Amino acid sequence: MILPEDLQCLKEIALKGGLKGPVWVSSQSLGGALGTSPQTASRRLQSLERQQYLSRSVNPDGQYVTVTRSGEERLRHEYADYCRVFGSGREEFVLQGTVISGLGEGRYYMSLEPYVQQFSQKIGFAPYPGTLNIRLEPSSMQVRKRLDQLEWVRIHGFSAEGRTFGDARCLPCSIAGIPCGIVIPGRTHYPDDVLELIAPVGLREALRINDMDEVKVEVAP
Ligand code: CDP
Repeated sequence: MILPEDLQCLKEIALKGGLKGPVWVSSQSLGGALGTSPQTASRRLQSLERQQYLSRSVNPDGQYVTVTRSGEERLRHEYADYCRVFGSGREEFVLQGTVISGLGEGRYYMSLEPYVQQFSQKIGFAPYPGTLNIRLEPSSMQVRKRLDQLEWVRIHGFSAEGRTFGDARCLPCSIAGIPCGIVIPGRTHYPDDVLELIAPVGLREALRINDMDEVKVEVAP
């Protein structure tokens, strides 16, 4: 567990821009911001570095500090708590991306009865035969990563006609109010920045969208 005073210091560095890159701090100014002596401020930085929430490069007149990935995760955790305190009780996730064409395999898989049945039972709709592929904008990649911490619906694999079909997981979401599901096969052919979506309707037609058009995927767990 991170100490509350270390967390306060981590937040201060993030407020100075430390999530985006190195920011210059002196123990003096940091102590001022935290209401402590420069020595205490310096000890907090050392402690955060030891816990790998910060990386530092120390110079005689001060230091450059950057919040690490696990530091950012720690702050996001805090943020999620505050969302629960002040918000509707849940955090919403919005991902932006553009429509692309895939390998044309979705139509085949989404027509297989054992998959169709599981989606109907577990997500609440039988999928239109296919998956709409969305290439995420770089700015949505952090949101994409956080989705992995949510509870996904498990879709079980099966064997048929001497072949095995793998497991997948699905996360309910929506596009322009239409219920959808993000589907990630156990063995995916797509990189992390491509989402495959199922919906009860053909989304290209329903939303009049084509390759290169922008869409917003909303997840409200
Ligand atoms: O691999 P690709 O996405 O190109 O094809 P697919 O998964 O076999 O899906 C067939 C077509 O239906 C593609 O053009 C998809 O973008 C589209 N589609 C759609 O409009 N709405 C859905 N709910 C699923 C797929």
